[in-house]
Amino acid sequence: MGRAAVLTGIGSAVPDRVVTNDAFAARMDTSDEWIRSRTGIRERRLVEPGTATSDLAVLAGSRAMKSAGVADVDAVVLATTTPDHPCPATAPTVASRLGLGAVAAYDVAAVCSGFLYGLASAAGMIALGTAERVLVIAAEAFSTIIDPDDRATAPIFGDGAGAVVLAAGEQSQRGALLGFDLGSDGALADLIIVPAGGSRMKTGASPSDHFFTMRGQAVFKHAVLRMAESSRTVLARTGWPVDAVDWLVGHQANVRILRAVADQLGLPREKAFVNVERFGNTAAASIPIALDDAVAAGLVNPGDRVLLTAFGGGASWGAVTLEWPDPA
Ligand code: UT7
Repeated sequence: MGRAAVLTGIGSAVPDRVVTNDAFAARMDTSDEWIRSRTGIRERRLVEPGTATSDLAVLAGSRAMKSAGVADVDAVVLATTTPDHPCPATAPTVASRLGLGAVAAYDVAAVCSGFLYGLASAAGMIALGTAERVLVIAAEAFSTIIDPDDRATAPIFGDGAGAVVLAAGEQSQRGALLGFDLGSDGALADLIIVPAGGSRMKTGASPSDHFFTMRGQAVFKHAVLRMAESSRTVLARTGWPVDAVDWLVGHQANVRILRAVADQLGLPREKAFVNVERFGNTAAASIPIALDDAVAAGLVNPGDRVLLTAFGGGASWGAVTLEWPDPA
């Protein structure tokens, strides 16, 4: 076993602007009742026009470094679906604005699974000795790719960022990332897609081609199956029986999905941490925002065995295990 990647700090940042379900109901054919009962969401945070993903990423990244008690890292990995520009990657801008110097910096694109792919990528750099310390940020100004008039997506997504610091250490240390499982199925690429703006279709026939679309029901089914399956795989790799898990911190897409994953695993639903009611689905950022929230609320504590899992566009999915670390 090579060097372990150990989580040593966490931080998050969400926009100040709170948008309630009633604000959507006032301007489209939906209701607070529908949104709450179908998703669990009560409100979300949305950026003001002009705020970009890097603005949220810098805030979350600086908070994670403060929490880890470090002033520098060797690399920045940014998971995002909404980079500041199609080219170049946003991570170098974030690294520069954090005053980190000439560090390695790149983006990871795996939509809602992006944070877990970012962790795996950073853990790989640490295992190789390419880096001693990596800042992994997941940040989304997701509302910038959402059609504000589409009731099928606009009330569901939110904006925000979360970040962690990973440092080289021992597998036996609290905070060590213990197991990984990652997967994808490109045959499902059209379930979650922004059709235009890339090399396949630079400019869409209609403005709506530049907005995010999702086949919700199909995504729901695949999400439950893949998150449960990936969780079982990573638990087996880690050597944890299901009842060893203290907290399931899953991608916060929908409270019904999180409960269904817990049910499929045979985990009591109370062990599935849920904060989708306050932030909506923040895509890649949802897991680190949820973790930071759960720690701040005194729910996830040092030594707790935590299972992370996500499913998102691609399709892509993954799961990670760790024991929650002591504060730096
Ligand atoms: O983050 C990446 C992963 N994403 C996910 O995991 C999301 C997975 N999918 C979901 O969470 C759910 O599928 C949604 C929340 C997106 C939708 O919930 P659903 O229970 O699957 O609803 P549905 O799409 O089957 O739609 C049920 C009905 C439809 O009307 P009809 O055809 O039954 O007359 C929709 O047109 O609800 C209608 N509907 C709405 N009604 C009021 C869809 N959106 C809304 C809305 N307000 N906002």
